[in-house]
Parts: sequence; structure tokens; C-alpha cells
Amino acid sequence: PWRHACEVGGKVSGGKGWDEMTLEEKGQRGYEVWVSEVMLQQTQVATVIAYYTKWMKAFPTIFDLAKAEEDTVTQLWAGLGYYSRARRLHEAAKLVVKNYSGILPMSAEELEKEVPGVGAYTAGAIASIAYNLPAPLVDGNVVRVLSRVRAIGADPKRKDVVALHWRLAKDILSHDRPGHFNQALMDLGATVCTPNLPKCGECPIAGVCRALAEEKATKLLAGKKL
Ligand code: ADE
Repeated sequence: PWRHACEVGGKVSGGKGWDEMTLEEKGQRGYEVWVSEVMLQQTQVATVIAYYTKWMKAFPTIFDLAKAEEDTVTQLWAGLGYYSRARRLHEAAKLVVKNYSGILPMSAEELEKEVPGVGAYTAGAIASIAYNLPAPLVDGNVVRVLSRVRAIGADPKRKDVVALHWRLAKDILSHDRPGHFNQALMDLGATVCTPNLPKCGECPIAGVCRALAEEKATKLLAGKKL
């Protein structure tokens, strides 16, 4: 969403390096990534963009959201479904303004523990994509990419299998650019390493993919040319 937020709102980071940003600017980035991730939990990027733009016009900062009427908030959400998410976002914004001076906590652990409605995924997204912190991030796309890269032949829906992928994602995380790394993994899953007919010919990490290597080996053994 950072990239989308950049394209759409043009406000995120304002092109500044992390070290040049003020605390308020960092907090603003946290808010923008938070809103976009909550919207993206249930709706595709292409649809979210219009809602996100409208939302940011109505509530440019977390302070604007905190002082808005609930009706205004839910009206802007209309069409996205799951109104409880909008209400939770609104309640959480009030809490963050009251308890944290409007700046979302700067660690994945604290985000998940302290901000209502923020689970492991959203906490990892805010920490890494908005705050540049080395927090792993695993969604369905990332589970698929990593389980293919390592040829993990286990049910990706099982709780323990998902937990394994969080550990894997933590082990391979880039500490220089954690946000870009996580975003790249998700985008790879969404565009190249797709559930059906993955585009292995275009994949930048095909060279280290065990699933692809094993598939090639199996096909060679079966006497098929790839
Ligand atoms: N869906 C949810 N979060 C996303 C993200 N950061 N990038 C692309 N799609 C997403």
C-alpha cells in the first residue's frame, strides 16, 4: 500500500529519506499504511484506490478521523462492506490520539498488543512498510511464495504451517529495506507466483526455487522436455 499510497495520495514520505523525516511525518505514514491495509484486507487494490482517496480527503490525519462522527466514517466506508472494520478503525484512532499523541506505536509487538483490531498482519505491515522496522509480514501470497521456494509440501491453511512461514519470513527478511522486501514478496505472489499457472519464466527468484527445480526433475524423469 505504500506504493499505492505514494501514487494515490502523493503524501507518504514526500520523497524524504527516513532519517530526514520528523516524528509527525513518520506517524502520518503509519496512519496511511494502516488505513490502506485495513481496506485491502477485504477488497482488491483496484477497488480500494478510489475509497482510499476519498477517505484521505475526508480524514487527512488520524486526528481528523478521531474527531469525526461515526456516521460520516461509516458512510465513507459504504461499498467496502464489513462496517465493523470502519468502526474499529475509528475507535482505535481515538485511542491512539488519546494515549499516543496520534502516533501509532513503533513496534509490531506494541501495535498488535495495544491497538484494537490490529492483528499480526497489520502490525507487521505498519511496522515494516510505514516505519521501516525489521518486522516479518506474512499473508496468503507470502505463504504460497515461501512454501514453493522451499518446496514445503504441507497444507498452507494449517495454523502450525502458517506459524512456520512467519519464522521463515523473519529469517530471510532484509534488515536494510524491510518494507520494500515485504512488499516485493507480496507483489511477487500476487502477480508472478500466482496460485494457478505461475509465471516461473518471469520470476526473479526462479533460480533458487526448490518447487520449480523439483518439478523440472520430475518432468525430466518422466521423459518430458521442459
Ligand atoms: N493486500 C494487502 N496488503 C497489500 C499490500 N501491501 N500490497 C498489495 N496487496 C495487498
